[in-house]
Amino acid sequence: MLFTDVIQRKRDGRELSDEDIALFVNGLADESIAAEQVAALAMAIYLNSMNFDETSKLTIAMANSGTVLDWSTEDLDGPVVDKHSTGGVGDKVSFLLAPIAAACGCYVPMISGRGLGHTGGTTDKAESIPGYNTAPDFATFKKVVKSVGCAIIGQTADLAPADRRLYAIRDVTATVASIPLITASILSKKIAAGLGALVMDVKSGNGAFMESFERSEALAHSIINTAARAGVSTHALITDMNEVLGTTAGNALEIAESIRYLRNEQREHRLDDVVIALSAEMLVAGGIESNREAAKQKCDDAVTSGKAAEIFGRMTAALGGPADIVENYDRYLPRAPVTRPVHAEGIVSAVDTFAVGNAIIELGGGRRMVGEKLDLSVGFTDVASIGARLDADRLLAVIHATTEADAIEAERNLRSAYTLSDEAPVPNPVICGILEG
Ligand code: URA
Repeated sequence: MLFTDVIQRKRDGRELSDEDIALFVNGLADESIAAEQVAALAMAIYLNSMNFDETSKLTIAMANSGTVLDWSTEDLDGPVVDKHSTGGVGDKVSFLLAPIAAACGCYVPMISGRGLGHTGGTTDKAESIPGYNTAPDFATFKKVVKSVGCAIIGQTADLAPADRRLYAIRDVTATVASIPLITASILSKKIAAGLGALVMDVKSGNGAFMESFERSEALAHSIINTAARAGVSTHALITDMNEVLGTTAGNALEIAESIRYLRNEQREHRLDDVVIALSAEMLVAGGIESNREAAKQKCDDAVTSGKAAEIFGRMTAALGGPADIVENYDRYLPRAPVTRPVHAEGIVSAVDTFAVGNAIIELGGGRRMVGEKLDLSVGFTDVASIGARLDADRLLAVIHATTEADAIEAERNLRSAYTLSDEAPVPNPVICGILEG
């Protein structure tokens, strides 16, 4: 069969057969299908979607395109649970939640993704820590999960390689925001990681791939039902992504904010709500706690006691980063040469979060082309949240850029992404729904 037949079938809105899906996934993994043909099929799926059966088969074939980990022989004394986000701007939750969940008795083998479209990626952020190896061999990955309780790594050549290639092509072909493609992408990695349970952070809003609550809910159901077919029990939280999460956006800048959070120094309240709710859901999904409020208290204790920070430090060291990252992160993280404060007057009433994400790409912190090298130091700090009253003391943000010209362009982009008014807006709830499989 020719691959053009498969593209044509989906272009014409027909269902893909098992054989079509196998040809696609094998061709992705062994690179026998050219990138332009992959892009054409991704666009046909984006436009004409896939039914539940096609989505499940694509997911399972992509999970099986490489190694599938098995934790049953490791004699672990806690559940193997992970969290995955559908992607947002300023979403540094993984760096907080993985050590918190580990401090509470979970084992978290987190296989994360790189930046996708306007959203940042956990793997890129981790790589802003000098020496941190996001692609260790499986023996090291397993050893770190077992001894520390968590390890955040990227996709290796062996784990779900079909997704690795498709992800990179979707990133630059405007084919990300597709429910079946997001479902297959996320779950293929999670099934390959050998999880017992999964918690999904399905982002909803103008900085997410799903803008409306209804589309986010549809994505959550697609992930929960597809995961159930593959035997992974999944809970999903729908969380607000109508503004940057926390006070920073940009790779190294988000690592710095994560460490300040773990040191219990700076816990921006929306970020804190999302982190604690998702971490607590991991304890519930993993069977460690049945009561969500008790689980939240346990997660909060993991931060205030310093246990989560200690685990983050041990994980970083075990993966090749500095052993004193928590104490001395300023010494290690890359720093942009230019900083530019952005002053404004008024109350922040809305943010075009997609535009903020794109402004980071323009600064060099995200990709425009497959494989592009990032400037991990750039981005925004002190980002004002919706409802903030800006004046001479309270900035809209501080820009971190490589050149003055980049900073000026970023300021223009930021100003046009922010709507200011005289009246305080009605606050958006940050946790918009909880769904269980
Ligand atoms: N995260 C992923 O891993 N894949 C997607 O498609 C979107 C978010």
